[in-house]
Amino acid sequence: MIRKFACWGLVMAALGLVAPSEAQTIKIGALLPMTGPQQSTGVQIDAAIRLYIAQHGDSVAGKKVQVIVKDDAAVADASKRLAQEMIVKDKVNFLVGFGVTPTAFAVSPLATEAKIPQIVMVAGTSSITERSPYVVRTSFTLAQSAVIMADWALKNGVKNVVSMVSDFAPGIDAENFFKGEFLKGGGKIAEFIRVPLANPDFAPFLQRARDDKPDAVYIFVPAGQGASFVRQFLERGLDKAGIRIIGPGDVTDDDVLNGMGDPVIGTVTAHIYSAYHPSALNKNYVAAIAKANNNMRANFISVGGYDGMHLIYEALKKTGGNTNGDALIAAMKGMAWESPRGPISIDPETRDIVQNVYMRRVEKRDGELYNEEFETFPAVKDPGKVKR
Ligand code: DHB
Repeated sequence: MIRKFACWGLVMAALGLVAPSEAQTIKIGALLPMTGPQQSTGVQIDAAIRLYIAQHGDSVAGKKVQVIVKDDAAVADASKRLAQEMIVKDKVNFLVGFGVTPTAFAVSPLATEAKIPQIVMVAGTSSITERSPYVVRTSFTLAQSAVIMADWALKNGVKNVVSMVSDFAPGIDAENFFKGEFLKGGGKIAEFIRVPLANPDFAPFLQRARDDKPDAVYIFVPAGQGASFVRQFLERGLDKAGIRIIGPGDVTDDDVLNGMGDPVIGTVTAHIYSAYHPSALNKNYVAAIAKANNNMRANFISVGGYDGMHLIYEALKKTGGNTNGDALIAAMKGMAWESPRGPISIDPETRDIVQNVYMRRVEKRDGELYNEEFETFPAVKDPGKVKR
């Protein structure tokens, strides 16, 4: 009898006579900073999720996909409360987003308890994937770029730096992984400066850095703060004093790079994505994001959202639409595909992303500023997981 009803339900749904039942809808709960200082992160991820669905359809493995976006304003307590609500009331099958590390940390115990995949599309602190067996990351870790940046600096005449990082978990990772590699290779770090995350005023720190007379300031700021750092760096004349900017590429964020002006031409950073990445897939991606979003330039944040959606769609195809959390995580482990950033995969041991890290230099191309890639380090695993 039950089976008969279930079949009848399917026939009715196929005929479009009834709405698909709960069980036939895949619910993706997105926690994003859509307001507040990290708003650009939420906007980029939201755009990428919408683009993925527009290009790949709003159903997968025979089930309808529904995305529920909640604004956590990058506040951990809000993220936790909203995640709880989405688990209990909306019965989401996935929790995605996480614009800053503290929100990813806050939600991981809930993902574990509910056995729901937590897809980290932005946050970059190495230890996040260790917080829950249900975390899979499609963004990056700061360690991936910091170590490669240190090696490049040592080989390219940068011997003495001031380290300046945003004072929260990914900044501490950026500092530590750069420091470990740079000191090992004989570099000197004149000073370690940690700048408050909220409403940072870089000026007094830049004055201190200038007085140290380093070859470069190694800087990590999260998405959304690069333009204000660079403006104050130039206002204080550090460029004129011969001091370079180096760091993970969060500082020369594609989203705001054009507004920084010609003085940033020549700035070298290490990072995982450039809107100028020369693949056909990326050219189409950048054009599609611009077209659908009032000419917004896709940045390193957005690709984490786009690839997170790919991970979800492909995992559901593999499980035949089964939303069991353990089955989905098993399907995600080892998955490999081409992203707009280049080839990527999910490390089956750590559930963290393995990807190319590129050395890039800011250049003017077709009248616009871009991070042009000039060297590729292929298939970089998170150094934060490798026992040294
Ligand atoms: C994090 C946030 C960012 O915007 C970024 O560029 C890097 C890391 C984070 O919170 O982990």
